[in-house]
Amino acid sequence: MKFGQGGSENDLRSLSGAALRVLRVIKSVTARAGGGCGALYIMIVITSHRTRRHFAPENNLAPLLPFPVLRPHRPSMQVPDYIKSYEAHLDALIAAHGREEAMSLVVGGQYHGIGILESSALLSHGLRPEHNVIDVGCGSGRLAVALRPFLAAAPGGGGRYLGTDVLARALDYARERCARPDWEFIRTIEPLIPAADRSADYVCFFSVFTHLLDEDIYRFLAEAKRVSRPGGTIMFSYLDFETPTHWAVFESTLANRDPHRVLNKFISKPAIIKWAAQLNLTVERLYEGYEPWIKLTEPFTYITGREASGVVEFGQSVGILRV
Ligand SMILES: C[S@@+](CC[C@H](N)C(=O)[O-])C[C@H]1O[C@@H](n2cnc3c(N)ncnc32)[C@H](O)[C@@H]1O
Repeated sequence: MKFGQGGSENDLRSLSGAALRVLRVIKSVTARAGGGCGALYIMIVITSHRTRRHFAPENNLAPLLPFPVLRPHRPSMQVPDYIKSYEAHLDALIAAHGREEAMSLVVGGQYHGIGILESSALLSHGLRPEHNVIDVGCGSGRLAVALRPFLAAAPGGGGRYLGTDVLARALDYARERCARPDWEFIRTIEPLIPAADRSADYVCFFSVFTHLLDEDIYRFLAEAKRVSRPGGTIMFSYLDFETPTHWAVFESTLANRDPHRVLNKFISKPAIIKWAAQLNLTVERLYEGYEPWIKLTEPFTYITGREASGVVEFGQSVGILRV
């Protein structure tokens, strides 16, 4: 066997030092074994450097490749970039509606009413005025504004609040609206929570896992566990394939093939149960989206005109994990 077999000398000259070292090892092994398998691998390594796309799965070489095959560029199959897609969404909303309205629409609208619903959900599950709350994906502060009087009411200055999001402009708005210099709003661009270990009583993700890939949901859950005190609560809302009222969202998502769309993401209960078990978290409750469990602190009216009062459902399903 000779170097260059199945490729040109130019291919060899363009190889990196590391690739050449791999080739030398393969050559010596192949020479000892006297087999042809090594020759095939050498051909793959050489061509991979310049023309990987010729080795598509259909020519049956894929199982031999030690790295993923590059496929032709197909924009409609791209996974949207969280940050770029949300920034573009906000740009479009500001252009169409102006800043004030856009800051409500970018988090899903009904700023006052859903803020009441979210804060009431936390209060229905043990939130106390002295608690430290971390609101991941807080957006323009829909929950923070609703929590403000409650966390401020604790004797000795009240509970603390940290909101994180990928959207700097939404965080600026939230900071302005809350006017609580002791509360923090921090931009994040990774699935990380900028807080100390065991510092939070409550970590919540409202309408956030509805826009993330499984891997990032899991990373965020691991982070939520890290920053939570023992006995702390993690609450998140999600879209569930099994919930009939969520199917319409899936159908509208199917219709949107824009590669720059905001990602809509469904999960299912077995995934949540598995993630919790892996992270040694207890699944305390998985509320169905249509199940009434939230004791509202005050009534409000949905944009549809429907009155919400007393004990109501969240709409999205809600998971509650105990640390
Ligand atoms: C539907 S909004 C909900 C906002 C807020 N939780 C609420 O209920 O009012 C989703 C938010 O998640 C944020 N987000 C999306 N991807 C994120 C990520 N990877 N890390 C942090 N926040 C993210 C978006 O910028 C947006 O503000």
